[in-house]
Amino acid sequence: MRISVHVNGAEAQADCWEGESLLYALREQLGFPGSKNACEQGECGSCSVLLDGVLVCSCLVLAAQADGHDVTTVEGLAEGEELHPVQAAFVRAGAVQCGFCTPGLVVAAADLLRWNPQPSTDEIREALSGNLCRCTGYEKIFEAVRLAAEDDRG
Ligand code: FES
Ligand code: FES
Repeated sequence: MRISVHVNGAEAQADCWEGESLLYALREQLGFPGSKNACEQGECGSCSVLLDGVLVCSCLVLAAQADGHDVTTVEGLAEGEELHPVQAAFVRAGAVQCGFCTPGLVVAAADLLRWNPQPSTDEIREALSGNLCRCTGYEKIFEAVRLAAEDDRG
């Protein structure tokens, strides 16, 4: 089947089989490899994207379900050369090690700050609880989200 998805502000089309995941279509067909495929079971959050503004694991969404809808991936967060505040804060805080979890965490953190610009540490923990990182121990990640929130306030 042919699907047409609005990805990061532009229309994109792909030929998918009925069981194909949105993650696979984004990475392998539509040219957006930023979302990572770590578990393909909805456990790790590395594939997080916004579907019509709602945070989802793209490995759990069929590509067909995204037909005619809006998808924002990590590639869609920066504005030209200017990093999204969460991306910049991850760099400043040193919250990236292997980087495999980073795209999903950045999308989830950006989503959190959209709805809650000044989250407490508990709220950050809760919002990112679906995103697993095997490298950092999370403290730098939480610090990055706090930095991004402060930047927003400044
Ligand atoms: S790859 Fe989707 S949740 Fe892990
Ligand atoms: S930085 Fe390696 S999994 Fe998070």
